Amino acid sequence: MITIVVCVGSSCYVRGSDKVAETFERLMNEQELNDKVELVGSFCMDACSMGVSVRVGDQIFRGVSPESAEQFFNDEIRPRIDAA
Ligand code: FES
Repeated sequence: MITIVVCVGSSCYVRGSDKVAETFERLMNEQELNDKVELVGSFCMDACSMGVSVRVGDQIFRGVSPESAEQFFNDEIRPRIDAA
């Protein structure tokens, strides 16, 4: 099971963390990954200035945006799921 943590702190929220999470959720449903991934929210990850922060497993990625969320999922999250 891979855990995706989307920061929902105020800085990330104003940069669209809710839309990033919605995109991840949609892709998880479309790709039938709900038994392999869990999606949760978190408070500030101390990377506020760079866009939405997302932790995948034990790695934190900074600067995700609603526009890049689908690409990020396919490039960074999906391979980790497939390798798990
Ligand atoms: S609010 Fe998201 S890293 Fe600080």
